[in-house]
Amino acid sequence: MNKELNIPNHVGIIMDGNGRWAQQRGMIRSMGHKEAIGTLKKLCIHMADVGVKYASLYAFSTENFKREKSEVDYLMKLFVNSFKKEFKFMIEKGVRVIFSGRKDPLPKKVLEAMEEITQETKNNNKLVLNICLNYGSHAEIVDTTKKLCEMYKNGEITLDKIDEDFIQKNLYQDLPPLDFVIRTSGELRLSNFMMYQASYAEFYFPDIYFPDFNDKEFDKAIEVFNTRNRRFGGVKSESKSN
Ligand code: IPE
Ligand code: IPE
Ligand code: MG
Repeated sequence: MNKELNIPNHVGIIMDGNGRWAQQRGMIRSMGHKEAIGTLKKLCIHMADVGVKYASLYAFSTENFKREKSEVDYLMKLFVNSFKKEFKFMIEKGVRVIFSGRKDPLPKKVLEAMEEITQETKNNNKLVLNICLNYGSHAEIVDTTKKLCEMYKNGEITLDKIDEDFIQKNLYQDLPPLDFVIRTSGELRLSNFMMYQASYAEFYFPDIYFPDFNDKEFDKAIEVFNTRNRRFGGVKSESKSN
């Protein structure tokens, strides 16, 4: 990748199109999810190598429980297998894995595998990989509101403590704002992904399915990011993407 390029600090990826990728090849939808794990592994290594500091990956939304039981069951097994085996390379690669989302109603085995990879990578500091699993922005706002109400009720905080920064720090994870959100598959929506964090993010919607989103596609996305002029409500800046 061109060394001059500005790398976004926090990248969000809505990994969409697995089902269609598989169906296009005459396979069942879940085969697309399986393929996506290989894509994801390579992408994580690439993101760490090019210097992305935070990456949030949308793996399963709170709404995805509406899908056929067979697909949900397959995904849950795939998560366990990934966190227990496929993602072990993250330990050596310096990737720190954390999760955002609601625990309920995730199966116990998934929760245990999540805890295991979190613990095993907790001292890593190259790339923070925030996996959004059973995640929804609406659920996050509800859960954060409840947490703040509890703090208030217990006398831990006063009302004047609640400002934008305090809310951000009390979301599922205390992360910097998203700079760049990529959604594969050509759909032009957020589907309940990190609404609070994406308020000033740049968006990019490549017309390919996630299993085909390789390093080259990521580099292309970074080039597009570098053509954007971010203003954050202020005046036009001289240099792009800063
Ligand atoms: C994204 O791919 C993965 C998950 C939502 C778990 P999809 O499964 O949504 O694939 P399409 O969008 O139906 O093709
Ligand atoms: C969003 O994709 C969730 C993930 C990629 C994990 P969906 O496929 O669930 O979103 P919709 O239903 O097309 O909006
Ligand atoms: Mg989809």
